[in-house]
Amino acid sequence: MILVLDFGGQYNQLIARRVRENNVYCEVHTLTDEKNSVDKNIKSGLGTAINFSAVKDLKPEGIILTGGPQSVYEKNSALPPKELFELNIPVLGICYGAQAMTHVLNGEVKPAEVKEYGKTEVEIISDSKLFSNVEKNSIVWMSHGDRIFSLPENFSVTAKSESCPIAAAENSEKKLFAVQFHPEVLHTVEGKKIFSNFVDICGCSRDWKMDSFVEEKISELKNKIGGGKVLCALSGGVDSSVAAVLLSKAVGKNLTCVFVDHGLLRKNEAVEVEEVFKNYDLNFMKIDAGERFLQKLAGVTDPERKRKIIGEEFIRVFEDVAKKIGAVDFLVQGTIYPDVIESGLGKSAVIKSHHNVGGLPDFVDFKEIIEPLRLLFKDEVRQAGRELNLPENLVSRQPFPGPGLGIRIIGEVTAEKIKIVQDADAIYREEIFKAGIAPELGQYFAALSNMRSVGVMGDGRTYDYAIVLRAVLTNDFMTADAAQIDWNVLNTVANRIVNEVKGVNRVLYDCTSKPPATIEFE
Ligand code: XMP
Repeated sequence: MILVLDFGGQYNQLIARRVRENNVYCEVHTLTDEKNSVDKNIKSGLGTAINFSAVKDLKPEGIILTGGPQSVYEKNSALPPKELFELNIPVLGICYGAQAMTHVLNGEVKPAEVKEYGKTEVEIISDSKLFSNVEKNSIVWMSHGDRIFSLPENFSVTAKSESCPIAAAENSEKKLFAVQFHPEVLHTVEGKKIFSNFVDICGCSRDWKMDSFVEEKISELKNKIGGGKVLCALSGGVDSSVAAVLLSKAVGKNLTCVFVDHGLLRKNEAVEVEEVFKNYDLNFMKIDAGERFLQKLAGVTDPERKRKIIGEEFIRVFEDVAKKIGAVDFLVQGTIYPDVIESGLGKSAVIKSHHNVGGLPDFVDFKEIIEPLRLLFKDEVRQAGRELNLPENLVSRQPFPGPGLGIRIIGEVTAEKIKIVQDADAIYREEIFKAGIAPELGQYFAALSNMRSVGVMGDGRTYDYAIVLRAVLTNDFMTADAAQIDWNVLNTVANRIVNEVKGVNRVLYDCTSKPPATIEFE
């Protein structure tokens, strides 16, 4: 296991990803000071807060100190204790982490003559194990205002750049490594190799694999749950589906899965989910509640009101089911590691704010929540799904909002509009898949504008809806750029939609980034 200690930098979650890519288990925590309080400067602290004694108890094979916005020489900046470097455990300090290591071990860090932000070329000037098989000259990502001016005793410089004479340094005997640049960011061309080398230096066995995760998790769940009753709310998304299948393998018939079809899912989605879960030995309940939702949504046009109605109605439907099921011992949540670490700073993981599971614990009679995926990143959840033989179309499903197509239909939601947007979206997804560009896109879907316009079809005039196509590139869904989809692909999609979907005579492409627009339309 490699432990990442967070000092508040913006790329820190990526560090854990890079370690996990090497099949090494990795946890992210924020280190508390000797009074057990988290430094107030680490505003974005990830994971739970732990003190130095807990760090030792974890017995990590390696420790990574992350970047962060502070300056080590300022009063009250967060610093690791000196003893951390005497544990005989390899330590990699990145950016602020490198400076913190230097400072604590009596080297000197000061404001740099030139603040660096962006791509820079570095030159490796030693045969450091950290840079084994790394090109001598390569591009790295820099983002720093301070730099290391003099090194602690027994450290030597291992890489330099034009404006940063100590771009990397190390005490090879003690296996302490400092890098000023960010190897976790993909702009650092040799970054992945650097993490792989660090993992080797730590002597990690690289056996964190999804097949072993799945096996171990199933047996752990069996032991924990015994003959207890378990309830799982299925949304049809990747996380809750993988969680449900894990549970079904562990407890079979003691598991009840409730899948509420609010009628606002993508085309065929409800059927696909049912098809998958029919194959498992569990109590699967599909609730067809589409009519109920449509009635509640009749005449409502305000986006927030629509969201609220869908969320509330979902809870009402689930409440009715829960009454029938009665008390259960465990409630399953599809929480994943980014949810856990983003909830941050010692707070326990928040129940997902996802509307379709968020309200449940209030009224479901249960003793304990189980979150079987809370240690996995999204792509690891997908991998676990593949190990569990879930179909690829479910495993690689893109994110889908809880309120579903309700927020992709501008204005009032009607059965006619749902059908239009489902059919158009299915065509769009099919063509994107055929063009082989799906893996590059963060999210892509069709929405129904509330606009009708004049068109001509055959000899007749039409007055029909306009479909809007959206495709975005994003890593975090907080910001996004509109994707530049090949014109031929868009052309094919537009032709097919106007020809195959009744009620549509115009197709528009949304070129707006987020901000100022959002990814969804409402
Ligand atoms: P926006 O539209 O805010 O969306 O740019 C960002 C991401 O969040 C998803 N989204 C939701 N997911 N419940 C969810 O579970 C919701 O109410 C919801 N609203 C937006 C959206 O699909 C995108 O991935």
